[in-house]
Amino acid sequence: MGRYDNRWQTVTVDVADGIGWVTLNRPEKRNAMSPTLNREMRDVLETLEQDGDAKVVVLTGAGTAWTAGMDLKEYFREVDAAPEVFQERIRRDASEWQWKLLRMYSKPTIAMVNGWCFGGGFSPLVACDLAICADEATFGLSEINWGIPPGNLVSKAMADTVGHRQSLYYIMTGKTFDGQEAARMGLVNKSVPLAQLRDEVVLLCQDLLDKNPVVLRAAKNGFKRCRELTWEQNEDYLYAKLDQAQLRDPEGGREQGLKQFLDEKSIKPGLQAYKR
Ligand code: COA
Repeated sequence: MGRYDNRWQTVTVDVADGIGWVTLNRPEKRNAMSPTLNREMRDVLETLEQDGDAKVVVLTGAGTAWTAGMDLKEYFREVDAAPEVFQERIRRDASEWQWKLLRMYSKPTIAMVNGWCFGGGFSPLVACDLAICADEATFGLSEINWGIPPGNLVSKAMADTVGHRQSLYYIMTGKTFDGQEAARMGLVNKSVPLAQLRDEVVLLCQDLLDKNPVVLRAAKNGFKRCRELTWEQNEDYLYAKLDQAQLRDPEGGREQGLKQFLDEKSIKPGLQAYKR
C-alpha cells in the first residue's frame, strides 16, 4: 500500500526511490482536465512539495493520453451556465497548478508525455522544468478546430519555448505533430520510443537526484525569472539567488565542490558533480 492510495479521484500518486510519480488518471476521458482534476492537482502538488521522499516530480498520464487538454464538457459547457464568480474560481484552480505552482515549484519537475497532448495541456507541459516524450505521442493546438483561440497560458508557453513561425503555424492550423518533431522544435528535451520512455525518465531523475536540491531550485527558478527582468535586475536577482542558496544550503555544497576540486583534486566539475 502506498501512502497516497485512493486519496484522489482523478490522479494517482506513487513515491518510490526519490521520485514522486503523478499520473493524471481519467484514461476513459483521455485525462481531460476537469474542474475536479484541477482542484485535486493543486492539492497533489502542494502535498508532494512537503513530502521529503519525493525529491523529483514526474507528471504523466494513464492510458493513451498525457492529457487531451481542458475538459470540453465539464470545464466549458457545464460551467457556462454557472454564476460568473464560480467561473473565476474554476479558472483559478486550473491556472494555479497548470502553471503557477509548477513553474516555480520547489522540486525539479519532468513532464513524461506518453500520448495525446492537446490545447490546455501545453501549459503544464511547458511549466514543468523538463519534458521527455514518446516518439508516438501526438501534440496539437486544437483550439482553432473547435472554435476558440488558445486560452490560459498556452500561447505564452509556446512563445517561451518554440519559435515564432512554428508557434503561429500550429496555433493557426491546429495541425498535429509527433514526439520527434516536438523535440526538434525544442518543446521537449528529448523523444524516445514509448517502450523506453519510463527508463529514460528514471535516468534523468537519477541525474537530478545526485545534485544539491537547494542549489538546483535556485538555478532553475533563477533561470525562469530571467525572461521577465532587465539585465540590471537580472544581475541583482541572480546574485541574490546565489547568496540565498549558499545561506540556505545545509550541506555547504559550494565549499565541498571547491575542496574536492582545488584541494583533494578528486573531481573535475566540468565533467562531474561533487560527491555528496
Ligand atoms: N474534453 C472532454 N472529453 C474528452 C476530451 C476533452 N478534451 N478528449 C476526449 N474526451 C472524451 C471523449 O468525449 C470520449 O468520451 P465518451 O467515451 O464519453 O464519448 C472519450 O474521452 C474518449 O475520446 P475519443 O475521442 O473516443 O478518443 P480517441 O482516442 O479516439 O481520440 C483524441 C483521442 C484526444 C484525439 C480526441 O478525444 C480529441 O480530439 N479530444 C479533444 C482534444 C482537444 O481538442 N483538446 C483541446 C482542449 S483545450
